Amino acid sequence: MTEIYLKKYADFFEEALNTFYSEKNTSYKVVLDAMSYSLRLGGKRVRPYLLRQFYSLCGGENNFSINFEVAIESIHTYSLIHDDLPCMDDDDMRRGKPSCHKKYGEAYALLAGDGLLTEAFGIAAKTENINSELVVKALAVLSELSGVNGMIGGQTIDLLSEGKTVGEEVLREICSLKTGALIKAACTIGCILANASEKEISAATKFAECLGLAFQIEDDILDCIGDEQKLGKPIHSDEDNNKSTFVTVFGIEECKEKVDTLTQQAKDALNIFGSKADNLKALADFLCNRDY
Ligand code: IPE
Ligand code: IPE
Ligand code: MG
Ligand code: MG
Ligand code: MG
Repeated sequence: MTEIYLKKYADFFEEALNTFYSEKNTSYKVVLDAMSYSLRLGGKRVRPYLLRQFYSLCGGENNFSINFEVAIESIHTYSLIHDDLPCMDDDDMRRGKPSCHKKYGEAYALLAGDGLLTEAFGIAAKTENINSELVVKALAVLSELSGVNGMIGGQTIDLLSEGKTVGEEVLREICSLKTGALIKAACTIGCILANASEKEISAATKFAECLGLAFQIEDDILDCIGDEQKLGKPIHSDEDNNKSTFVTVFGIEECKEKVDTLTQQAKDALNIFGSKADNLKALADFLCNRDY
C-alpha cells in the first residue's frame, strides 16, 4: 500500500514541478535543461513526501507546503548530481539514466547543481498562505541541515574517510549528516509549517534521526547486494571508492539488524500521534525493506 501511495505522490509531485520549473528558451538553456533532466529522472520522492505527511499530521491544510516540497527535492537532486561527479563518487548512472555529467558534461552538471540549490531557496521563500514567521523559521532549518553543518559536512567526512577504517561513531556521523540531515529537514519543516508544538517537532526529529540512519545503512547494503537495474545506479560504488560504510565494518547481517532496530525506534517515536501516524510508520517499514 505504501508503495502505491508513494507512486501516486510522485506523479502528483512531477506534475507540480511544471509550475516551478517551466521551459524557457534562453541563451543559457543548457543549464536549465540539465537541472530539469535530473529533477525529472524520477526517484522515490521520499523527502517531499515526508514533508507533506508531517505537515498534514500536524494539522497543516491544503497544498500550502508544496513550495518546500519542491525545494527539498531540488536540494536532494543537486546533492545527487554533485555526488556522482568524477571528483566525488564518479558514478555514471543515476535513477536509471546517465548521470547529469555524463549527459551534459561536468561543467554544466556542476552549474545545474548550483542552479537547483539556489532555486530551492527562492521557491521556498515564495510560499503562500503560511505565516511568514513560520516560513522564515523553515528556511533557516533548510539552510542549516542542507549546509555545511548538515548534508555538506557529511559528504565532506565521507570523502575524508575514503581508504580509512573508521569506527561506529564516525560512521554514524557520516550517515546522520550526509543523508539524515535532509530527512530531518523534511520531517521538521513539515511540522514547522503546520505550526506544530515543540513536543510534535521533537517526536518528528527523533523519527527522522532513526529513519535517516536506517535509510543510509540500507543504501549501503543495496550498494553491495542490490540489483543495479532496480536501483538505477551502479552497485559496488562504495567498494570502488574505498568508502568506509556500515557494511564494511559490520557486514550485511549485522547491518540488517541495525536497520530493523532503528526502524522500530523511528516508529516508536511517533506513538504520541496515535493512529494518525500509521501511514508514516508503514513508510518507515517500506523504506527499510526497500530494494531500490
Ligand atoms: C539516494 O537517495 C542517496 C542517499 C541519500 C542514500 P534516494 O534513495 O532517496 O534516491 P532517489 O531520490 O530515490 O533517487
Ligand atoms: C550520498 O550517499 C548521499 C548524498 C548526500 C547524495 P551515497 O553516495 O551512498 O548515495 P548514492 O548511493 O550515490 O545514491
Ligand atoms: Mg557519496
Ligand atoms: Mg554516491
Ligand atoms: Mg550509496
